[in-house]
Amino acid sequence: GAHLQGYADDGYRLWLKYDQLADAKLRATWQAQARGIAVEGSSATLQTAARELQLGLQGLLGRPVPVAASGGKGYIQLRVAADPALGKEGYRVVSEKNGLTVTGPSEAAVLYGCFALLRHVQTGQLPTKLNLTSQPRVQYRMLNHWDNPNGTVERGYAGSSIWKWQELPEVIDPRYQDYARANASIGINGVVLNNVNASARYLTDEYVRKVAAVAGVLRPYGIRVYLSVLWAAPRVIGGLPTADPLDPKVKAWWMARTNEIYKAIPDFGGFLVKANSEGEPGPQDYGRTHADGANMLAQSLGTHDGIVMWRAFVYKAGSGDRFKQAYEDFQPLDGKFADKVLVQVKNGPIDFQAREPFHPLFGAMPRTPLVLEVQLTQEYLGFATHLVYLGPLIKECLEADTYAQGKGSTVAKVVDGSLEKHSISAIAGVANIGSDRNWTGHPVGQANWYAYGRLAWDHTLSSEGIADEWTRMTLSREPAAVTAITQVLNQSRNIYVRYTTPLGLHHIMGQNLHYGPEPWLAQSARPDWTAVYYHKADAEGLGFNRTATGSNALALYAPGARQVWMNSTTCPLNYLLWFHHVPWTQQLSTGRTLWNELTTRYYTGADSVLWMQRQWEQAKPALDPALYTDVAARLRVQHREALWWRDACVLYFQSVSKQPLPPGLPAPT
Ligand code: GCU
Repeated sequence: GAHLQGYADDGYRLWLKYDQLADAKLRATWQAQARGIAVEGSSATLQTAARELQLGLQGLLGRPVPVAASGGKGYIQLRVAADPALGKEGYRVVSEKNGLTVTGPSEAAVLYGCFALLRHVQTGQLPTKLNLTSQPRVQYRMLNHWDNPNGTVERGYAGSSIWKWQELPEVIDPRYQDYARANASIGINGVVLNNVNASARYLTDEYVRKVAAVAGVLRPYGIRVYLSVLWAAPRVIGGLPTADPLDPKVKAWWMARTNEIYKAIPDFGGFLVKANSEGEPGPQDYGRTHADGANMLAQSLGTHDGIVMWRAFVYKAGSGDRFKQAYEDFQPLDGKFADKVLVQVKNGPIDFQAREPFHPLFGAMPRTPLVLEVQLTQEYLGFATHLVYLGPLIKECLEADTYAQGKGSTVAKVVDGSLEKHSISAIAGVANIGSDRNWTGHPVGQANWYAYGRLAWDHTLSSEGIADEWTRMTLSREPAAVTAITQVLNQSRNIYVRYTTPLGLHHIMGQNLHYGPEPWLAQSARPDWTAVYYHKADAEGLGFNRTATGSNALALYAPGARQVWMNSTTCPLNYLLWFHHVPWTQQLSTGRTLWNELTTRYYTGADSVLWMQRQWEQAKPALDPALYTDVAARLRVQHREALWWRDACVLYFQSVSKQPLPPGLPAPT
């Protein structure tokens, strides 16, 4: 195996794992190209770039790689150089007569180029005719933490928060820098440090000093900090009687606060806001709109270089089909938002389910830049226990066609601004990391952080390609192991869907934790928040009728997109029960009845976890023993819980359908 004998890898190094290349010839080839690193300029980010490159190459090549102000043949040159073709952050890594050069129009660009070069070496590729050129398609590539001041993480499954607020600003946990390295290596350039269900404390002077200390660590890595704000902050910490966005005193308060923040953090990124959703305060409390609120906040940023990301995840229980709520609140506001405002939209209309149709707001607000928000923490996808690689989920959304401006109007083109010609663009991932040594609890959760960053940079990358890259960098470069593992990654999301919510079922999980099955849930404090509401199983059939004879949520989509889902006999099976109430006995395109297809999927889905286990076992000789054992054990839990899902759902739905199990399937246990 490629691992160091007896060395238990605890996963802390993530994909920044610069173990020596096993292939001596490959090592020698690169050694000739990397006798040293020459860096012009002494700024923090350039020095950081040089140090990162040095650290990586020394590990991979197994010998010192000095950094100097200038260097001769075989030195890698790092240089900031104007290059109109590369935007602000694009890089070029090329082999020239005297050696490799890493250039880009900004220091951050050079840093990204260094990480690209390292990736190239680390994944075992050759320096021949090197020409790595890339620039990000999306400008603000954000990681959103749902972390609280007391160290808990909302929907976090990897320990507590990495931010130690009580110790800051004096104590700087070295982990902050490792966090910055990991993010910069995949191109993330902004982080929201706190939960969208925000505490007002972050806006106090006391916390701004702490935030400034974190910003100081992230800055050399090209990362800016942002804060989630509590709408009621002017009342809670400002002593004002109101938080009405049109009240002059409220405006003045935000303006003053913002100025204070910029005094402490000159490159502060801006604000993320969850308002009038799930009980959070907001401008609607004062009869104002989301646009009134967002615009006032944008105004408070004045001439500072900051933005407002205003979330469209608005949810009030009991107000019609939840699918339509965000659309109804936000679509009419298109064109009413100020320049610095972006509206942040979850990938799907309900809430980060294992599979959702794309959110109907994409394509429906052409005058507003929309941020795509995806969830890396696996709130509805098995926490840190189930192995689910999210590359396919994110790609599925990005590639979905909104038909807003005819065929090919993908969500990706809405988000990167190219479809509607926006000058700003952003994407956000809800972080899955915490204080666990391996950051993500499940070691494969690291792949989701990684894949998100890579896709945020370039949404045209393939999910499979990223899985391959991550596996080689993090787990093993041994070809048979890479194949076995990437097959698992690539199938894992579909497998999870099959044993939990096949055919377009959604939101049938346990009410409290959002874990495990609870399709029988018929009563809840939130009136619409019952599993029965979402699956609508009755004697006749199963599924949520969102056609014109039902809630008509389908009407929110452009005709081209609607067309795909409109007809229950042609609707792709993966989305069928999202949109249709289908008779148990209806024959599907697979030749099976709905009931037989449903149960078959639950059974084959659960069985597939055994296949995942066998694949993982095949890779064993190439893996670090501790990591192998950890994932193998998690896969055993996953199988046990896949059976739990299967049996709970099959038995519950059978109590309604009164159908026998199709021949060949063993009875639930
Ligand atoms: C989900 C999640 C909440 C979170 C909310 C949001 O509903 O369960 O914990 O606050 O999404 O995205 O705002």
